[in-house]
Amino acid sequence: MYDEKNGTMYSEKVMDHFANPRNVGEIENADGVGTVGNAKCGDIMKMYIKVENGIIVDVKFKTFGCGAAIATSSMATELVKGKTLEEAWNLTNKAVADALDGLPPVKMHCSLLAEEAIHAAIDDYRKAHPEE
Ligand code: FES
Repeated sequence: MYDEKNGTMYSEKVMDHFANPRNVGEIENADGVGTVGNAKCGDIMKMYIKVENGIIVDVKFKTFGCGAAIATSSMATELVKGKTLEEAWNLTNKAVADALDGLPPVKMHCSLLAEEAIHAAIDDYRKAHPEE
């Protein structure tokens, strides 16, 4: 999937989110934190969520990983912000990759990190709020 415009195998959107990732950092006193790792490559991602009335009002991430992992984390945070926990839970790595105009097949596994990190952060939140 060679992209003639930016001279790489990545789409312009992937390159943009890799070069200017959105929502990078930590949330102090986050309501949920999830850390996941990719066994294949050893890359790690940490996701923080702030939840109000069942809605993800803020989300930040830190990724020690490849460009595709950074771009998908960035896009995933944009997609879950303002969504309900349920909607965020149902966001698939495929939907995130589609929102980035696709990823090369060999990099699809990288996008799983973002999906898993969101699940881990929501799980962490739900553990502390079993009533929701
Ligand atoms: Fe590790 Fe992409 S190579 S997440």
